[in-house]
Amino acid sequence: MNHILFMLKKRRKHLSFHTPGHKVGKWDITELSFSDNLANPTGVLKRAEDDITKCLKSRRSFLLTDGSTSGVLSMLYASKAKRMFLPRESHKSAYNGCKLFGITPVLWEGEWKAGLPPLAKREDVEKVIDQIDAVFLTSPDYYGRVPDLKGISSLCKEHGLPLLIDGAHGSHLRGTSLYAGEYADYWVDGVHKSLPALTQGAVVSTNVDEGALKEAVGIFRTTSPSYPIMASVEYAVKAKPNEKVRLYAKKLAKAYGIANDDWTKLVVPFGRAAEAAESWLEAHNIYPEFCDGNYIAFYLSDCNKLRELKRLEKALKTLGVGRATEDSPHERGERGEKTELVSYREAIGRTVAGEVGLFPPCIPLVSDGEILKKEDAERLERAKNTFGTEDGKVYVYKR
Ligand SMILES: Cc1ncc(COP(=O)(O)O)c(C=O)c1O
Repeated sequence: MNHILFMLKKRRKHLSFHTPGHKVGKWDITELSFSDNLANPTGVLKRAEDDITKCLKSRRSFLLTDGSTSGVLSMLYASKAKRMFLPRESHKSAYNGCKLFGITPVLWEGEWKAGLPPLAKREDVEKVIDQIDAVFLTSPDYYGRVPDLKGISSLCKEHGLPLLIDGAHGSHLRGTSLYAGEYADYWVDGVHKSLPALTQGAVVSTNVDEGALKEAVGIFRTTSPSYPIMASVEYAVKAKPNEKVRLYAKKLAKAYGIANDDWTKLVVPFGRAAEAAESWLEAHNIYPEFCDGNYIAFYLSDCNKLRELKRLEKALKTLGVGRATEDSPHERGERGEKTELVSYREAIGRTVAGEVGLFPPCIPLVSDGEILKKEDAERLERAKNTFGTEDGKVYVYKR
């Protein structure tokens, strides 16, 4: 049963002299006598959170209406870590959390292959084990690939280190050996990204310290949680898989995509033709999740119709698959005291201040302290949306 939806459907429209200001007074309501209170739930929200906790097999799960971002911040805060193993290609919320809580990120930078970010293995964490007191991983990544969860979680257990997993892209993996909750002490389910929830609907869970996570969500969650979003998260967590769509998605991946672990991410290599392919797709009213200037990632879900997948298949047949280009690694430069804002072209060969990248996938193309390459400048110029930039300019350290 979906408790929040049931409560919202059952109520007749009432006369609203409460927030929100649109006064519709039916679904988009605030915390009223019958609708419970997310900060200290005892009614319908408690029943929903209890059910989600059971579904996710966690010690405790918390509803979030502020995206995985507030979940990432909450778990970083709850872990009380001071030195965090952090893969370079982590989402910017992880970098922001480290800045906020004074956590030193022990950045792990593996080698990119075929234009794809590296995935951490047990030995990568083992090398820096005496420099860290917690480990942060993203799983699956934006390209549907899973790091060495088994090896790294057993290493964390051996050393008593909490493992935090950003599962913003992996809610649909529940019930499989790839699900973050099988390994993590704290993890985030970005429910809205791959399950049928409204944008910003997410869940953060723990298998260790319920009290610490409760305190954290009390800091980072909004005090005005959206009932439509909460209802959609409960609905999405309980929704049934669509086996026909999953089968078709796997067939598409075999024909056009890279080999990955996640049927919801069809990642097609186009190399230098990627932006042109994206424009062609958009001209045909097909919008992928992102184009990173090398690959185009199509995010699928149980809610896609088979006819939609067939239309995508036809488009890919017409476009033809390309070859991914290899990027040269980033070199480290000299950080300075002061920074200046310069155009992408002027920044070539200079050391970047802050994280800069395409949005999505919202992982750094160039990280703080790395030298911006000509191909980075070209990629930023071609990109539709970027982060860490201002009007086609980027911050670099003054020489
Ligand atoms: C890996 C990862 N973590 C966290 C987030 C933040 O999620 P949200 O946008 O739901 O706050 C994203 C968003 O793209 C993400 O890709």
